[in-house]
Amino acid sequence: MYVCICRGITEKQIRQVAQQRPCSMQELSAVTGVGVDCGSCTEYACQLLQDLGNQGCDGECLSVGAR
Ligand code: FES
Repeated sequence: MYVCICRGITEKQIRQVAQQRPCSMQELSAVTGVGVDCGSCTEYACQLLQDLGNQGCDGECLSVGAR
C-alpha cells in the first residue's frame, strides 16, 4: 500500500527502513523522501514508526513537509 503518493513510497519500504535502524520521522524523510512534498502522509508514516517501536511522532515530524 502506498503511504506517500508524491514520492511513491510504500508501507513496506517504510517498515524496511524502520526495522533496519531506529529512526525518527525526520531521518525517515531524509532516507526515503516520505513527507517532504505535500506532507499529507506524515501522520500515517509517524504512526507506522511508532508501531515499529521507533520515535515516530515526537513533534519534529509535524514540521516535515509542511510547506
Ligand atoms: S503524499 Fe507524501 S509528501 Fe505528499
